[in-house]
Amino acid sequence: MNDLLWTKVDRYLANALLPEDLILEEVLRSSEAADIPSIQVSALQGKLLMLLVQAQGARRILEIGTLAGYSTIWLARGLPDGGRIVTLEADAHHAQIAQSNIAKAGYANKVELRLGRALKTLPILANERIGPFDFVFIDADKKHIPEYFDWSLKLSRPGSLIVVDNVVRDGQVVDLANREANIAGVRSFLERVGQDPRVEATAMQTVGMKGHDGFAVVRVKS
Ligand code: SAH
Ligand code: DHB
Ligand code: MG
Repeated sequence: MNDLLWTKVDRYLANALLPEDLILEEVLRSSEAADIPSIQVSALQGKLLMLLVQAQGARRILEIGTLAGYSTIWLARGLPDGGRIVTLEADAHHAQIAQSNIAKAGYANKVELRLGRALKTLPILANERIGPFDFVFIDADKKHIPEYFDWSLKLSRPGSLIVVDNVVRDGQVVDLANREANIAGVRSFLERVGQDPRVEATAMQTVGMKGHDGFAVVRVKS
């Protein structure tokens, strides 16, 4: 219904605000050629991630859900020299294409991809004492967002920023008849985070070429 207008405005904003980006255009082409679903963040959203990383002064980033590395590259662009990203991906095909995209973008030395289901790899990170991460981007399966959020808190520090993608899902989040596990995961995350004394949280709805969705931004209290 409004999607056409949203897409048009997204195109207008991208034209006005984003310089030509041959690297990320090539990433999108290569993911399409590899039959990877086009569910990465938009360019405008990716740039917001980069700006948040910069505003945060983040040096260590954790990403849960790599897909083809599109958001990873935006996050990497916000890092200073010596900054590092650990990104977690369960699908071996996605991971392989992501590694190649990340290398082509020139970030192989900054990004460590860990293959495996995040609920398996997160405890390993914790055991290795790799954190604390200054910035976390949660964008894997939505069913497990509450668990990913708990691990993110364990792996972060006072002042860390945690961004969670896809918390609106075309408004399904308020459709109480919807019993889908993914929606239940989003809802239980939002309801818990609002009551959690350790953090301050907000969420923004988004519309655009990716439809109607939203992201939550959570800061671990100092
Ligand atoms: N952040 C990416 C999009 C991620 S899409 C971007 O914006 O560019 C979600 C990804 O999470 C998919 O690649 C999917 O394979 C992965 N995923 C799904 N379940 C997972 C799990 N249990 N552990 C780790 N990754 C998972
Ligand atoms: C899906 C996942 C995402 O991370 C996203 O931004 C959009 C869609 C999905 O699994 O359908
Ligand atoms: Mg997403």
